[in-house]
Amino acid sequence: MEAFIVYCSPAGTTRKIAQRISSTLAHFGYDVATYDLAQNLDEATVGYDIKHAHKEHCLFIGSPVYACHPVPIVTQFIAQLPDNADGYAVPFVTWGGVTSGVALFEMAEMLAQKSYAVIGAAKILAVHSLMWRYQHPLGAGHPDEADEKLVDQLVAAVHNSIISQPPLSIDLSTLNYLPEPIREPMRTIDINYARQVLPQKIVNKNRCTACNICKAVCPAHAITCDPFPEFNQNCIMCYSCMRLCPESAIEADFSKLEKWLTKRAQEFSEHPPSAIFVAHD
Ligand SMILES: Cc1cc2nc3c(=O)[nH]c(=O)nc-3n(C[C@H](O)[C@H](O)[C@H](O)COP(=O)(O)O)c2cc1C
Ligand code: SF4
Ligand code: SF4
Repeated sequence: MEAFIVYCSPAGTTRKIAQRISSTLAHFGYDVATYDLAQNLDEATVGYDIKHAHKEHCLFIGSPVYACHPVPIVTQFIAQLPDNADGYAVPFVTWGGVTSGVALFEMAEMLAQKSYAVIGAAKILAVHSLMWRYQHPLGAGHPDEADEKLVDQLVAAVHNSIISQPPLSIDLSTLNYLPEPIREPMRTIDINYARQVLPQKIVNKNRCTACNICKAVCPAHAITCDPFPEFNQNCIMCYSCMRLCPESAIEADFSKLEKWLTKRAQEFSEHPPSAIFVAHD
């Protein structure tokens, strides 16, 4: 069977999980095609390939959790998938130790609306990508070996489900694992909230060499260089541009963020950190 792995991974952790899924699927004999939504610029191409897959296919789709939700790049991708999909889907998210929010449920619901049978899902703890400058970031050391084993178990369970036709869909309500009073306020926040509360990026024109590297690494195509970078409305606040600028020419005040994120993580105290969701007979 054909398997597609589609993901967005500004800081590289979701990619690691995607790679693990890919090698485990290959071990089970799947024909695997992997798409990084940042690199395969034309999302429609990926959608086209999936639409023209052989009759049945399995789509693994991964996103980091941003402000409790999947990133817009991923939801936009799912939205343009063909309706009446004849296949199985497995959403997965990586989250940074604050909360995995409603990301997994939202992805699964969108996939189900496209007629995918959602036969598995996973949330995997990862180092918090906003905390790359801190000595003790939330999620430090993750994903670890135990997380990778969970991913292997997910793929094995999905494979068993597929070969024991008909595959069982998971109960999507199990992805609403956070209590409703916690989930309720999450519905009102989105990437715009992150744009408002997170540190603003400022280009230091004395340092910037107009090399365009920031533009090349931006997963959201949110930078124009004329000759200095400017950020547009597509920005998802991943700070890849800032992290990867060779001149440290993009600046932002991160001094208050560590305390705030740590406090939020304590308030949520989400457990378990990593989990897989598979169907049971
Ligand atoms: C703008 C932004 C918002 C984030 N929001 C959350 C969040 O709501 N909860 C959380 O636990 N982690 C959050 N994170 C951390 C990421 O979900 C986590 O580090 C993820 O593994 C990053 O994936 P990547 O390495 O594939 O980019 C956020 C990170 C960024 C940059
Ligand atoms: S990567 Fe840095 S130096 Fe290069 S254009 Fe962007 S801000 Fe300027
Ligand atoms: S402009 Fe920078 S922070 Fe915004 S999406 Fe692009 S790389 Fe991420």
